[in-house]
Amino acid sequence: MALCGLFNRRKANRHPTTDQQQLTQQASTESGQPQLAPQATQEQSEPEHPKAPPSGLEKLESVPKFYTYEQLAKATADFTNNNLIGVGGCGQVYRGELPDGEVVAIKKLKYVAGQAEMEGAQLQFETEIETISRVRHRNLVKVIGYCSDKADKLFVCEFVPNKSLKYHLQRKGNQINNWSNRMKIALGSAKGLTYLHEGCTPTIIHRDIKSENILLDHNFEPKIADFGLAKEILDYQTHVSTKLKGTFGYLAPEYVKDKRLTDKSDVFSFGVVLLELITGKQAVEKEGKVPINLAIWALPLLKQALDTDDYKALVDPNLQEYDINKMTRMIYCAVACVYKPEKSRPKMSEIVEVLQERIGVERIWVSQEDSKFLYEGAPYSNAASLPNTMSSSA
Ligand SMILES: Nc1ncnc2c1ncn2[C@@H]1O[C@H](COP(=O)(O)OP(=O)(O)OP(=O)(O)O)[C@@H](O)[C@H]1O
Ligand SMILES: [Mg+2]
Repeated sequence: MALCGLFNRRKANRHPTTDQQQLTQQASTESGQPQLAPQATQEQSEPEHPKAPPSGLEKLESVPKFYTYEQLAKATADFTNNNLIGVGGCGQVYRGELPDGEVVAIKKLKYVAGQAEMEGAQLQFETEIETISRVRHRNLVKVIGYCSDKADKLFVCEFVPNKSLKYHLQRKGNQINNWSNRMKIALGSAKGLTYLHEGCTPTIIHRDIKSENILLDHNFEPKIADFGLAKEILDYQTHVSTKLKGTFGYLAPEYVKDKRLTDKSDVFSFGVVLLELITGKQAVEKEGKVPINLAIWALPLLKQALDTDDYKALVDPNLQEYDINKMTRMIYCAVACVYKPEKSRPKMSEIVEVLQERIGVERIWVSQEDSKFLYEGAPYSNAASLPNTMSSSA
């Protein structure tokens, strides 16, 4: 199933006219905000439903900015390597500077022959950008605008300055070994995902939650990247929605088996991120030449930890002192997300509440009943069915 099917289709003028752009720019300049939708300041007021706004001016303000290829080439000094931040499965990411001085990240999607000619592809790309550019939350990377001109497909989003969670976990610096930073990352990402699942109408399923897509600011506040869009582009590239998408090590078993994709697939992936935060290991570790899936590797250690309250073998040895109660909560969140079958997995809002100590862990994991999911191996009774030898982004 293509993610686009999850979004509202709204017939709109895809490319703002010059008048619209002027009006929009004027509104942006007057507010001092480069973005087109208001940026909320408080957590409670952050969520802004990505629905079509009712009145004319508001509607104009919600349109993402449209850039020409030349404008974005200028912003990145002709896509020079000096401005290259990274390369992912869909293309390159550049740091750019817009004429008003705003620093942005520009994702230049790989050209795939025939993609531009596909019927509806252009409209679909622009519709998706319109939808996701209306999503605003402090823990989600803000989408600012795009360029879509046949083969050239780029999108412009907020620049997040402090690399990804994966980068920090691999390098094991002091800041990532600080427990409160790990907790901040877990909680902030859970809040961002809760907003996609429960604050947006219709629900947005991320489909590629992983530590590379959790970007950090200098205070280690997380922002989830790549929601909604990147895998759409892969849909255009393959034109088959039967292909697995997402990243191995993070894919929910029911998605691998039946291609069934729900918000609970994201919950599973989030649980794997929690396992990374707890253990310091990667979602797929290589022992020699054999890739080991973290969800499988951690299983006996999780059982032992929950049975004996001895976390030594499970917890990242690089982690400086940690709060045992908070660690216990994070562990229960991880086991509930990863080892429960799809229908019993918690909602992301419940994970937020457990991490915030607002509800007890028994709301997501009833020890006597749910320990069977660890001991009987469900949903991992057939570990061989798990994809553990695959490269990223299928
Ligand atoms: N908004 C952003 N601000 C700062 N850096 C970014 C931003 N978006 C992506 N990056 C960086 O660019 C690099 C490539 O990102 P990209 O999303 O293309 O690939 P990925 O997430 O590693 O894999 P995938 O293609 O599967 O999503 C990453 O290392 C990421 O840290
Ligand atoms: Mg990414």
